[in-house]
Amino acid sequence: MTQLLLLNGPNLSQLGRRDPGQYGSATLDDIVAAVTSRAADAGAQVDHLQSEHEGELVARVHAALDDGTEAVIINPGALTHYSIALRDALELLPDPVPVIEVHLSNIHARETFRHTSVTAGVADGVIAGLGALGYETAVDVCLSLLAKR
Ligand code: DQA
Repeated sequence: MTQLLLLNGPNLSQLGRRDPGQYGSATLDDIVAAVTSRAADAGAQVDHLQSEHEGELVARVHAALDDGTEAVIINPGALTHYSIALRDALELLPDPVPVIEVHLSNIHARETFRHTSVTAGVADGVIAGLGALGYETAVDVCLSLLAKR
């Protein structure tokens, strides 16, 4: 079974009550369930970690180097904009492992400090502004990329 790793960074635990105008009304549990179901339909399974802590996310990426993870979907939250440590960890993943960065909101249409992603440069692609649909789309993209590799 294809193994997908879903990572969510700080404050994404608060989805549902966090600025619904930007992030929508779905909770993180709703999103994880939708991603898991989309993956299961395609014969893939999902391991999920949300953390408020940069180091915990870095350590999970390190673990992914050896645990059979075949693709990573990550919304780093605010870490997107400043975490060189998370970027460096993602860069360790070998080329055959697709990394798709997801943002619920369109970060390019928001405050200037959100326009820069330090992690995007080590991702295969970025999906922003499609809300929870972006996560499900990321599953499809990962599976398509894996099928081509
Ligand atoms: C976010 C955008 C970030 O700027 C913000 O800090 C988040 C969520 C998004 O999903 O739109 O926590 O990554």
